[in-house]
Amino acid sequence: MIGVLLLLLLLPLLLYIAAPQIRKMLSSGVCASSVQLPGKVAVVTGANTGIGKETAKELAQRGARVYIACRDVQKGELVAREIQTVTGNQQVLVRKLDLADTQSIRAFAKGFLEEEKHLHILINNAGVMMCPYSKTADGFEMHIGVNHLGHFLLTHLLLEKLKESAPSRVVNVSSLAHHLGRIHFHNLHGDKFYNAGLAYCHSKLANILFTKELARRLKGSGVSTYSVHPGTVKSELTRHSSFMQWIWRLFSFFIKTPQEGAQTSLYCALTEGLEILSGNHFSDCHVTWVSAQARNETIARRLWDVSCDLLGIPTD
Ligand SMILES: *[C@@H]1O[C@H](CO)[C@@H](O)[C@H](O)[C@H]1NC(C)=O
Ligand SMILES: *[C@@H]1O[C@H](CO)[C@@H](O)[C@H](O)[C@H]1NC(C)=O
Repeated sequence: MIGVLLLLLLLPLLLYIAAPQIRKMLSSGVCASSVQLPGKVAVVTGANTGIGKETAKELAQRGARVYIACRDVQKGELVAREIQTVTGNQQVLVRKLDLADTQSIRAFAKGFLEEEKHLHILINNAGVMMCPYSKTADGFEMHIGVNHLGHFLLTHLLLEKLKESAPSRVVNVSSLAHHLGRIHFHNLHGDKFYNAGLAYCHSKLANILFTKELARRLKGSGVSTYSVHPGTVKSELTRHSSFMQWIWRLFSFFIKTPQEGAQTSLYCALTEGLEILSGNHFSDCHVTWVSAQARNETIARRLWDVSCDLLGIPTD
């Protein structure tokens, strides 16, 4: 009894002492690749803030032409100016993309395909988290609509270009939160029951399932795909939840900066010879385990077909 009490008292102290070590462990995983990207073209969704912005900056630093695809073009332009100034790379462009609206996605893709001959790196980074129940322009529940279906359509529309530009890569930013996710095919849009936190987890599970299915379908095409858990990162993702903001602050010591959070995306986009690991899920710059659901090929195939139906894409 006394032992337990003592332990309870000591625990905060121990945590406090161990914090720098834990902090170091959590922020481990740095993209060490020295690959340069002159002549390469990259698209980063949601690159006007947080991890996406840091990812775009690093790609620009290495000489790529970088498209910042985001909803708020004005905000995007400010970030583009900033990246241009910091990196000296003038080829940072902003294009309007609202992933909650398939018309906007199609318009973005059309414009991009007309103006660019190549696409070497696509980073599906944008995401929403824990927003109140709402629907996209096409009537999809917001999390599954933006985080999964929006990127699904975008990737689909850009796929030919990626193939023509091979070797090329697609990186999907998912999350550890996928472990709590389930694909409820009878309730994909939360009409029957809805929980904002779980809706986020479900959509992140969908990201991983898709990465795997896409990798299977793209075998031998020269396009490789990866999904990543960026870590727990301070970003605007928590904008819809004051509870999450509170949690974030409480644990701020353990939380990665956006720059640290961008490392695994960069690692998957840049590291030479990573193609043999296509379809895998990465965290802290190495392959990591995913939940049983995320490994289930039956669910992956079914979700693929259902998504094609919802988006009016031929299933093939
Ligand atoms: C990324 O996720 C989207 C949405 O889940 C999916 O459509 C796309 O195929 C995925 N791409 C890769 C490379 O995993
Ligand atoms: C995959 O999921 C389906 C449907 O939930 C289930 O019936 C099946 O047993 C799972 N397969 C594996 C290998 O876990």
